[in-house]
This record gives sequence, C-alpha cells and structure tokens, in this order.
Amino acid sequence: MSALLNYEPLVLPPRAALPALTAIQEEILTLKKQRNAVILAHNYQNEDIQRVADFVGDSLGLSYQAQAAQADVILFCGVHFMAETAKIVNPGRTVLLPDLDAGCSLADSCPAERLAAYKAAHPEVYVVAYINCSAAVKALSDVIVTSGNAQKIVQRVPADRQILFVPDQNLGQWVSQKTGRAMQLWPGSCYAHVMFTTQAIERIRLQFPGAPVVAHPECVQAVRDLADEVCSTELMVKFAKTSPADKIIVVTESGMLHRLRREVPDKTFIAGPTDTCACNDCRFMKMNTIEKVRDALKFMRPAIDVPEPIRTQALAPIQRMLDWSR
Ligand code: 13P
Ligand code: SF4
Repeated sequence: MSALLNYEPLVLPPRAALPALTAIQEEILTLKKQRNAVILAHNYQNEDIQRVADFVGDSLGLSYQAQAAQADVILFCGVHFMAETAKIVNPGRTVLLPDLDAGCSLADSCPAERLAAYKAAHPEVYVVAYINCSAAVKALSDVIVTSGNAQKIVQRVPADRQILFVPDQNLGQWVSQKTGRAMQLWPGSCYAHVMFTTQAIERIRLQFPGAPVVAHPECVQAVRDLADEVCSTELMVKFAKTSPADKIIVVTESGMLHRLRREVPDKTFIAGPTDTCACNDCRFMKMNTIEKVRDALKFMRPAIDVPEPIRTQALAPIQRMLDWSR
C-alpha cells in the first residue's frame, strides 16, 4: 500500500441526539428574526451552519426556495453562483453571501467572453448550462440544468438542435450517456470531485464490503462506473432512506455527510476518500463559517447584485429549467 494512502477512514455512525445550539447559533436565530431573513444552505455547508438554516438542499431545491422566499433577506450559505441565482430569481430581496470569495472552480472554467466567442463561431449550438456558472454565462445559455434534473431537461431539448454542454465535462458526459444525446462538452471540471480516484474508492470498498457507493456525477467516469448509484446531493438522501444497507460510502464533498446523518439517523455514512485524504472538502464552500454567517446578518453584507440586462437575460434559461423540472 502506498504511504500516501495511510489514513483512517472518516466514519460517521448513527447519533442519538443533536448537540444543543451554541451561543453564536442562538445569536444568528435572533438576528434572523430581527432582519426578517431566511437562511438557505447547501448540503456542503458545515454542520453548524446547516443547523441554523431554514432549508438545506441541493442547487435545484435551493433555487425553488429562493424564488418562493417572501422574507426581506435571503442569507445564502453556499457559493457565489448560488447566491447570484437567488438574486436573479428573486431580485426584490436582499441576498447575502457570508464570504464573497466563495467561488467555484467549475464556474471559473467557463468565462462568459469565451462562451460568447464560441457561440459567435458556432451560432447553431443550443447551450445547456450547468447551474454552476456565472450570471453572464447563464445569460448566454438556452437552458440551465442541475445535477438533479439534467437528464430530464436535456430530454426536452428539441431533437434537431446540436447541444453544447457547459461547463462540466463530467456531468455532461454522464447526461449524454444516460440520455443517448450527443453533446459537445466544455472542458471544465470541479477541482474537488476529480480528486476521487478508482484506487481510493476500491480501497474503501474493501474496508466496508457490502456498503453501496453513491457518487456525484461531477466525478470522472472511471469513478462513476464503480458506483452503485450516481446522483445529485438531494437524491443521495433519497437513496440513503430507501437503501436496505446500514452503511453507505458517499463520494462527494464531505458536508453531505452532515445532512445525511441528520435525515437518516439510523445509518452509518463513510466519506469517499481521495488518494491523500479520508474526505474531500470544497475549499470554496468551506469559506463560509458560522462567524461570517452571524456577521452577514449583523452588518447586512456582503450583498449580491446582478446588473441588468444580465439579470433578465439569465432569468429566461433558469425559468425554463424551473418550469421543465416540475
Ligand atoms: P448539487 O446540485 O448536487 O447540489 O451539487 C452542487 C455542486 O456544487 C456539486 O459540486
Ligand atoms: Fe464548485 Fe466543485 Fe465546490 Fe461544487 S464542489 S462548488 S462544483 S468547486
């Protein structure tokens, strides 16, 4: 065995009860009332943040929640493109992101100017954009997808149109395989999910024989091929609830384990390892801390702004997705 692989697996066993809220979490709940705010948190956030959220979910669920929000303030605990999406679908609310630097390597891999240049050279393409992209890229797209609805949405794209899928080549490849729809793939990827290797997953499987493997579609094909189920973070909760297995290996960002453990308290969850670490954190998601969440509500910043006409242009493909996805 390689010395690099010499780490203990991260295993979260069933837990009887949640710990009491801390002083800072109580402070956040008070501020939330004072500001008339709703806290939306992605499944990859730390557990202390997930505990104070009104809704914890995947990109798709969070988009619906953001659009329906009636509160004056949406505090979005996730990364920049998610908060931007909330502002696009619900521009009348103040949208806060605890750390403005919480970006996404996948979104960064597709600059709007490059997509615009590609479209100018290939005006016939129908652009299907994964929601992990900037507002400017969304504004250039025909329809948005998330990992939870990508297959369904792609099946609705007119059969005579040639699809360009941006920016995640791994998700795009998976959707293409599942739907049988040929696509041109933008060469982007998630720096965190591509760190999962077949070697690391085969090794953890040997340690937990019989435990099914669920993997996010942002993983490379060789890893997806090893998985028992490939799905979005939300569908991982469904899988965990319905699987007869009492131990499950979860190949995605490690924050997911907190959500799973809370919703499926009688099962054991094992973090999918990489070649160098027992689990895999997204450094952008983890820029949000409980202190920054408190400060965002206290000082009402940083706020997200999406200028016109980009906002209206970006809304059209998002709305198409929300309508097609129902
Ligand atoms: P989900 O759509 O499954 O929530 O995934 C979002 C994401 O950023 C994955 O890396
Ligand atoms: Fe982006 Fe990957 Fe982080 Fe998701 S896990 S926010 S795709 S860098």
